[in-house]
Amino acid sequence: MCGIIGINSNRPVSASIINSLKKLEYRGYDSAGIATLSKGLINEIKSEGRVDNLEKNSLIKNMEGTIGIGHVRWATHGAANSLNAHPHSSQNVSVVHNGIIENSTILKKFLINKGHKFKSQTDTEVIVHLITEHLKSEDMISSITKTLKQLHGSFALGIIFKDKPDLIVGARRGSPLAVGYGPNENYLGSDSYALKSMTNKVTYLNDGEFCIIKKDYVEFFNEGGTKINKKVLELSSEEEKYDKGDYKHFMAKEIEEQPTTLKNGIKEYVDTSNNDINIYNFPWKINEISSITLIGCGTAYHSCLMAKYWFEELTSLDVNIDIASEFRYRKNRFKKECLYVFVSQSGETADTFAALDLCKKNNMKTCAVVNVIESSIARDSDFVLPIHCGTEIGVASTKAFLGQILILYILALKLGLLKNDIERNLFLEKLKDLKELPKLVEQTLMTDNKIQSISTTFNEAKGSMFLGRGFSFPIALEGALKLKELSYIHAEGYPAGEMKHGPLALIEEGMPVVVLAPRDNYYKKTISNMQEVIARGAKVLLITNKSKDEIISENIWETIEVESTNDDLLPFLLTIPLQKLAYYSALKKGFDIDKPRNLAKSVTVE
Ligand code: M6R
Repeated sequence: MCGIIGINSNRPVSASIINSLKKLEYRGYDSAGIATLSKGLINEIKSEGRVDNLEKNSLIKNMEGTIGIGHVRWATHGAANSLNAHPHSSQNVSVVHNGIIENSTILKKFLINKGHKFKSQTDTEVIVHLITEHLKSEDMISSITKTLKQLHGSFALGIIFKDKPDLIVGARRGSPLAVGYGPNENYLGSDSYALKSMTNKVTYLNDGEFCIIKKDYVEFFNEGGTKINKKVLELSSEEEKYDKGDYKHFMAKEIEEQPTTLKNGIKEYVDTSNNDINIYNFPWKINEISSITLIGCGTAYHSCLMAKYWFEELTSLDVNIDIASEFRYRKNRFKKECLYVFVSQSGETADTFAALDLCKKNNMKTCAVVNVIESSIARDSDFVLPIHCGTEIGVASTKAFLGQILILYILALKLGLLKNDIERNLFLEKLKDLKELPKLVEQTLMTDNKIQSISTTFNEAKGSMFLGRGFSFPIALEGALKLKELSYIHAEGYPAGEMKHGPLALIEEGMPVVVLAPRDNYYKKTISNMQEVIARGAKVLLITNKSKDEIISENIWETIEVESTNDDLLPFLLTIPLQKLAYYSALKKGFDIDKPRNLAKSVTVE
């Protein structure tokens, strides 16, 4: 998943390309590069690592050209170095690419036999040479259509040509791509976010389409090369200003913003004066839905797993959950009366989008739970439930997780009520508790004193485990994911009751184990499982909720107590110390907290 940008203008474009690349860094930060056309030549400047490195290159300031393309990379083929950085160019053509060309090895052999010389280890370079090869005998449009036909896999492309100094070509299959319109200049970008400082007028390309961007107009074509008309959409012109403020990292700020995330979500969906939940314009009748399938990746998948427990508790719906990358290739039994829910912060995750696409092709009911409402997943779903948590910059998802599980909980409550699966009085009680939740999260956030010192033990360990049962199990998985993602410490999330079926063998003297044991229905069972790991030498960090009852166990290394609420809502509170544990652990190790190694915020390749 990489980010691409293109600008065709009357003014020099390199500075604006760099600015847009900074906005696209959430898609990848392995390398950055730019190519412009000037004086009849393609000029390229590339560097390893962040856009800042590229900007520091002394040649950038004087880079000429009123037409150019830029790229930030998340490496798929070939190491993360400047040689493999995009753009990739021949003498005639320069290309930036987001996606994966699956048949690149075969195409490369074919092109080498034709005399083409390759400089990088990337799959992208075959695109450059294929176009160059076709241009020997074809015009530009048929070189493009022929090249696109030969490519297997996914791509969003930006292409400039030495001999066509007045245009940029954009093409899309699988990976998102938008065109933007400005005064005497036009743009190409991976998303509208990258274009927002320049325009709020955009057109999104559909799969198979390509476009030619001139300074004063844009032409669109279908796969066969026939011209088509496309709508120009006007997005809100407000550019969201989001900075770190006094925080050291976005993640720290985003953790602290969680009470606001919850307040926003509750304000949006809970009608406090009538004690009800409003989900306006829900497009289906309640008796048309008898099951629900929730799909996501990473943290969003953990939200789906969390929701499974709530939907089973509060509704009579059959509940299935799936990891998007698995769902998309399985032989699914599509059911007309099933509601398919796609959970994604970015709304651009390639696997989740492909799973949605599959459901749409099978005429299923689709609903998106997303943060970015202009995203591909939001645009393509029948119905959208925004999570309203504001921009999330940290690669590790924090406030978006609480935002997702809040909306899914609200949906479960409402469907339970509509289906008469829960009584009105119980519904009202749960609604009352829900309204208190932001305050409880705020109070839980204030108790961080011990976590900083506790994190040292995790940093010194070979590995760690996170255990929970019932409602706490998805949170154990999420806690483990946060720790490994940020601190590069091996961390495994496990249902506490499963330990004796194998993983108990991992426990050795001094191994840190987080046990989530709030005083819910599972409490006594989890405490017994905790004893089993303590007996084998584990250093247990117990996370529970405040209670007048003493903790029924001995030899616990450390205990953290979160605030108390009803069983349904405890997962929100248990999440907080786990996010902080991961944060402090990475902070002590001096790692890049907002941009952990090998990752990207938006995963737009499968
Ligand atoms: O944008 P999405 O919610 O679809 O992203 C899904 C995952 O890539 C994401 O949650 C990832 O697991 C996070 N980095 C975890 O903190």
